[in-house]
Amino acid sequence: SDIEKGTYPHFMLKEIDEQPLVLRRIIQEYQNEDNEIKLDPDVRQAMKDCDRIYIIAAGTSYHAGLIGKQFIEKFAKIPVEVHVASEFSYNMPLLSEKPLFVYISQSGETADSRAVLVQTKQLGHPALTITNVPGSTLSREADYTLHLHAGPEIAVASTKAYTAQMAVLAILAVDTAKAKGIELDFDPMQELAIVANAMEALADQKEVFEDLARDFLATTRNCFFIGRSIDYYVGVEGALKLKEISYIQAEGFAGGELKHGTIALIEEGTPIIALATQEGVNDSIRGNVQEVIARGANACVISMKGLEKDGDSFVLPKVHELLTPIVSVLPFQLISYYAALHRDCDVDKPRNLAKSVTVE
Ligand code: AGP
Repeated sequence: SDIEKGTYPHFMLKEIDEQPLVLRRIIQEYQNEDNEIKLDPDVRQAMKDCDRIYIIAAGTSYHAGLIGKQFIEKFAKIPVEVHVASEFSYNMPLLSEKPLFVYISQSGETADSRAVLVQTKQLGHPALTITNVPGSTLSREADYTLHLHAGPEIAVASTKAYTAQMAVLAILAVDTAKAKGIELDFDPMQELAIVANAMEALADQKEVFEDLARDFLATTRNCFFIGRSIDYYVGVEGALKLKEISYIQAEGFAGGELKHGTIALIEEGTPIIALATQEGVNDSIRGNVQEVIARGANACVISMKGLEKDGDSFVLPKVHELLTPIVSVLPFQLISYYAALHRDCDVDKPRNLAKSVTVE
């Protein structure tokens, strides 16, 4: 292929490192000369006209959708449902009067998502595809497309597409809020620029995550990610990353759910990676960490500046509370990458997986 790894040993590491650059490109592409959001007016209208949004996606793109829901509901005040594409048609939800379907797909070729698109088009509902490949099947078949501008993503494990998806969803949510006349005390481009700087700072501290991967994951069979609120969704993405490239059985859990069953899995030495970036739940997630440590877990906490406590393994630079996932996923991407390396796994081409899943 004409895409080269350059000095990088793997595409995944290269793509992780490209994330600040991609974010800055998105800021540029979605801004006009007057520093206002530049967005297809038809997309703006479709967002304004709908009474409910149904996000449809798979895998990592689904995880980006979970964060997108937070942006759209908090900024634009439109109710959002997020659905796994392959499950959608079995128990199709009751649809609102004016639904808008939003398909999130890096490749634009995921068959499970396309099957839902065909179905909702038949029902006559408008569709927006958010993709890294304009001209892909999902892009051509939807009414509207938003481009991720992430550049080709080669590694099977999605990294820069995920952070790009969240950034574009944040811009879309704020644009919709403005179009609806909702006053916001939030400049998305300024906040995303801060996020890009934070990402860059992380990229320069990779040894920390290499060490964490070695200390926590070199020989383990399983690993749990815990978090509350939006940290929980990032944990689910962290678990998917770790599973697919290192083959360690990993799950993301909501901190509050531990006591409802999962805590039974904790044994002497079970690795637990906790995320603490949300002020409102900082005490309660810390409580969960104490609970698992008391049962023998090998726990580490990744927190955000201002919320850190003694003993945290890493403190992320401060960014806007809602945009934390765009930064907090980087440690998980890097930990997964180094865990896979330590375990001699084929990082870019994990067993049994394809980059885009074009069969249902
Ligand atoms: C992510 O690391 C995975 N390889 C996978 O879950 C992926 O996100 C999923 O197959 C969806 O792909 P898409 O974004 O191209 O639709």
